[in-house]
This record gives sequence, structure tokens and C-alpha cells, in this order.
Amino acid sequence: QSCAKKAVIKRSVTYPDWPNKGVSFLDISPLFLSYEDFDTLINYWQYRFQDVQLVVGLEARGFILATAISQRLKIPMMMMRKKGKLPGKTLSESYTKEYGKDEFEIQEDVFRHLSPATKSCKNFHVLIVDDILATGGTLCASIELVRKLLKANSMTNAKISTSLISSIKCLKGKENIYEKYNDVSIDVIHEI
Ligand code: PRP
Ligand code: MG
Repeated sequence: QSCAKKAVIKRSVTYPDWPNKGVSFLDISPLFLSYEDFDTLINYWQYRFQDVQLVVGLEARGFILATAISQRLKIPMMMMRKKGKLPGKTLSESYTKEYGKDEFEIQEDVFRHLSPATKSCKNFHVLIVDDILATGGTLCASIELVRKLLKANSMTNAKISTSLISSIKCLKGKENIYEKYNDVSIDVIHEI
């Protein structure tokens, strides 16, 4: 973890009063501009989450992380998209985040694309990844939606874990999630 943490510290930039006054925006995109530091991060996830069967990326920056993890772990990746981007029947969950409201969607029948071996795995484990944990509104909605999907597929015994690059401690995202879900783990590489 210490190598991953060092990479995150080196490549994170804070922008005060963006996108709104009073909000400090933590930008982790410089991480992707260093192949080595991004690789360090992916190595971290690879070793920490070897028993995961499905990785879920939250639009938008979570997509980049989930895709890289999926290829490294050789597991499927599911996109959780912002409202109105997915065709067909969807499951949705609206939420409030640090600087506004939003809504997530996933396709209702997305699990039909998973292999039978993946679907029948006894200890099905889902990993949700995103860049930043602020108030926790985003992560909370994603957990709720993954739960809905698991329930619709009679997989209620599945385990859900979450992992994020950074969390902004003073916004109490972790506390807000733990208050609602005591069975979901939250892994954060670097807290500021
Ligand atoms: C940002 C960030 C997290 C979320 C955290 O995403 O990437 O997903 O906010 O905020 P919260 O903990 O208060 O909910 P945002 O929706 O702004 O934009 P993105 O589509 O660029 O990821
Ligand atoms: Mg986001």
C-alpha cells in the first residue's frame, strides 16, 4: 500500500473553489499521465482483490480504473453510468453528492453476459471502484444499485467491497456509508 499511497500523493492536485465556490476539487488525473505510477496502483488492486469476480466502474473516472483492474485480474467489468446513457430496461438510483444531484443506471439484464462459471461462483465478490470518496453519496448509490442487481439475480449472498484512490476525511464519506451498510468494506489508498 505504501508505494500506491506515494504515487497518489505525488500525482494528486487540489483546486480550491472548483467547480463551485467552497469546494476543493481533488484531481487525480495526473496519475494516468505516468505509466509507472498508474501501474503501481493497478498492482496494488491486483494483489488486494484477487478473489473478486466482477469489477464495477463508476462514471466517469471510475471507468478508467475498473477497466485496468478488469484486464489485470482477467475478470468482467461493468459500467455504472449516469442517467440516460444506457439502452434497454435499467435499474436506477438517484443521489446527492458534494456539489449537486445525479442519478446512476445499470442495465437490468447485464448479468446475462457473464459466463455461467462466473454466475455460479459460490463466493461471488463484487468490487466497486472510483477515484474520490467525498460525502459518500455517489458510492452509496452505487452500492444500492449493485444490491438491487444482485437481488434481481438471486445472488443476495454476494459480497460487496469498494476501493477508492482518495477520500476527503472531513466530509465523512466513510462514516456515512458505514452507517447504512455494515457489511460493505471501504478501502481507501490515501485519506486527506
Ligand atoms: C466525483 C468523484 C466521485 C464523486 C464523489 O464525481 O469522481 O465519483 O464526485 O462525491 P461524493 O462522495 O460527494 O458523492 P463526479 O460525479 O463529480 O464526476 P465524474 O463523472 O467526473 O466522475
Ligand atoms: Mg466520479
